[in-house]
Amino acid sequence: MSAPLRWGILGPGRIARQWVEGLRDTSDRLIAVGSRDRDVARRAADEFGADRSGSYDDVLADPDVEAVYISLPNSMHAEWTVRAAQAGKHILCEKPLAPTPAECERVVAAGASRGVHLVEAFMYRYHPRWQAVWRAIEADRIGPIRLLRAMFGYSMGADRSTDIRLNPTLAGGAIQDVGCYCVNVARWFLGEPDDVRGFALDRRDAGVDTHSAAVTRHGDAMAELACTFDGPMGQAVEIVGERGRIDIPIAFVVRGEAKLTITDQRGEDREVFPAMNQYGLEIQAFHALVRADAPSLTPGSDAIATQRVIAAWQANQ
Ligand SMILES: NC(=O)c1ccc[n+]([C@@H]2O[C@H](COP(=O)([O-])OP(=O)(O)OC[C@H]3O[C@@H](n4cnc5c(N)ncnc54)[C@H](OP(=O)(O)O)[C@@H]3O)[C@@H](O)[C@H]2O)c1
Repeated sequence: MSAPLRWGILGPGRIARQWVEGLRDTSDRLIAVGSRDRDVARRAADEFGADRSGSYDDVLADPDVEAVYISLPNSMHAEWTVRAAQAGKHILCEKPLAPTPAECERVVAAGASRGVHLVEAFMYRYHPRWQAVWRAIEADRIGPIRLLRAMFGYSMGADRSTDIRLNPTLAGGAIQDVGCYCVNVARWFLGEPDDVRGFALDRRDAGVDTHSAAVTRHGDAMAELACTFDGPMGQAVEIVGERGRIDIPIAFVVRGEAKLTITDQRGEDREVFPAMNQYGLEIQAFHALVRADAPSLTPGSDAIATQRVIAAWQANQ
C-alpha cells in the first residue's frame, strides 16, 4: 500500500467539515488547517484531528503538507490555487475551480508549470453509480442520447442573507453554486455544446443569479439545465435515449443509498447502491493520481470548458 498523502486545508468552513468525514474513510492524513483567523484555525485543527494550524500561507509553507484541499469562497479559488502550485503542493480545489474561463486557464497553466496535480472537486463523479450509467450507455441499452435533463436547487432561507452564495464579490450565484453540476454532467455525457441559450434571474436583487435555466445543443442532442436558490427543486438527472432512459435521483449530493433506474425495451431495472461517502471516494482517487498517476475523473483542465458554458449562460443575466 502506498504511503498516506499528507493534507492541508485552506478555509475550514461548511464543506471542509464534510470533506474531513470523507478523509477519515481513507488512509490519508490531515496535517494542517489554515484560516484567516488563527483561533478559528486552531479550533478547526482540534476538531478535525490535525496537529498544526495557522494562516493559509502557513499551510502552504509547511514542508510536510503534500496536498491542499481548497474550500474557500469561489472568488478566492484561483488566487490560492496558483499560490499552492507555486508552493509545490498538489491541489484539490472545490468547484468551481474559478468563476471565468480565463481564470481557469491561468490556474491550469500554473499547475502545469509547477508539475503539480490539480483536480476540481466534483465529487459526484466518483460515486460508482455513474459507472453503472456509463456501462448501460456503452452497452447501447438506451440508444443514442437525445436529451439530458439536470436540475439542482434548493430554498435558501432569509436567515442566509450573508451566505457566500449571495455575494457577488465572492462569485456567488446559483449557476456557480449548483448549476455548475448540471453543466458538468451535460458535458460529461454529451460533450461540448455548439450552442447555449439561457436565462439567469436575480430575484433577490443580490447582484447574483438566484433562479436560472438553460438549454444547450450538442449536435442533435440537447440538455435542459436548471438551478435555483428559490425553491425546493431537488437534484436529479434524466438521460433519454432513442430506445430507453436512465433516471438518476438525488444525483449529486447523495448521503444515503443511491438509486438508478434504467428503462429499456426489456423493461425496468432498478439498482440500489449502499451509502458511501463521495468525498472519501474523491480523496482515494486523488491519492491514486498522486501516488500512482491514475488518471483523474475531474482534472482541473476540465473546468475551462465548464466555465465557457457558464459564461454563455450568464450572458443572459
Ligand atoms: N463539493 C461539494 O459538495 C460542495 C458543497 C458545498 C460547497 N462547496 C464549495 O466549497 C466552497 C466553500 O463552500 P462552504 O459552503 O464551505 O462555504 P463557507 O463555509 O461559507 O466558507 C468556507 C470558508 O471560506 C473562508 N473564507 C475566506 N474568506 C471568506 C469570506 N470573505 N467570507 C466567508 N468565508 C470566507 C472561511 O474560512 P476562514 O475564515 O476560517 O479562513 C470559511 O469558513 C465553495 O466554493 C463551494 O462552491 C462544495
